[in-house]
Amino acid sequence: MAQPRIYSGMQPSSGSLHLGNYIGALQQWRRMQDDYDAFFSIVDLHAITVPQSPEVLREQVRTLAAQYMAGGIDPDRSCLYVQSHVAAHAQLAWLLSTITGFGEASRMTQFKDKTAKGGQEAASVGLFTYPILMAADILLYDADIVPVGDDQKQHVELTRDLAERFNKRFGKTFTVPKPQILADGARIYDLQNPQSKMSKSADTDKGVVWLLDEPTKTAKKIRSAVTDTDGAIRADREAKPGVTNLLEILTAMTGEPVAALEARFEGQGYGAFKTEVADAVVAELAPVRERTLELLADPAELDRLLAANAERAAEVADATLARAMEAMGLR
Ligand code: AMP
Ligand code: TRP
Repeated sequence: MAQPRIYSGMQPSSGSLHLGNYIGALQQWRRMQDDYDAFFSIVDLHAITVPQSPEVLREQVRTLAAQYMAGGIDPDRSCLYVQSHVAAHAQLAWLLSTITGFGEASRMTQFKDKTAKGGQEAASVGLFTYPILMAADILLYDADIVPVGDDQKQHVELTRDLAERFNKRFGKTFTVPKPQILADGARIYDLQNPQSKMSKSADTDKGVVWLLDEPTKTAKKIRSAVTDTDGAIRADREAKPGVTNLLEILTAMTGEPVAALEARFEGQGYGAFKTEVADAVVAELAPVRERTLELLADPAELDRLLAANAERAAEVADATLARAMEAMGLR
């Protein structure tokens, strides 16, 4: 029997992934590769919904591709490709935009969040229609499951609505996907400000562990993580967010459950605990960093891999696009 299909992607909108992306996305994707037919994209068309420098964007696409692979996405098994290399994404997004209500699109909370600072007048139309492009990504591949963080759940719900609406109006064309929302322990917080998610747009990067940070820098960031004065190593998201975050990071690195860590560290100080977390993160990330740098040292080979994967992706996507166009009376 064919394996169910998953689809997910990340934007090439920073110079490196951080530990939150690694635990919340990459680690999960790597595990899912065994049980699913997987498509993972680098969504550069989404990245340009806010201004990007062309040279920087090109570099960031390559870096993200290298980090996907270094983090364990196997390009021979999973289809790892760049969104803009497959023309069908933009084409299907247009078709879907014609069945999306303006009011429906206006209710997307991420657009409201992203424009809260600068105002909607200053935003591009592309930023507004971004969720429709995301729906096209997912529907082109007949994905059954879409693993995402909860900030993307509303976009996957929109995707479901659009798929159902299209199927009802034009005949069964698309698979209706389900979101798979990240488990709570897979959400990582800023080391300096453990009430906020670790994020690429943090004010300072002292609390953000970048996958490309040198190991000594990573260890230092973790040893300087904000904790509390109560001294006990136990999980309590409300009262002890810093310690809880470190416990969850350690669990993600070694697989040792939080309860076991609490028992093992009973009576010990924060110093020894932080050193162990730092060592575990460095042990996991140092090889990922090495491998990323190796892959980036040979951009021609990286580009060749991405081109081959884009071809595989296009075969699937073009067939779905043709189906959708025919159903709408366009071919
Ligand atoms: P972003 O960095 O917001 O583009 O997110 C890319 C992916 O990483 C999404 O699947 C997010 O859910 C995941 N992600 C981002 N930040 C975190 C975090 N702090 N903890 C866990 N997952 C995260
Ligand atoms: N919008 C997603 C994010 O910012 C990225 C994304 C684009 C995506 N297309 C997708 C995620 C399709 C899952 C499936 O994180």
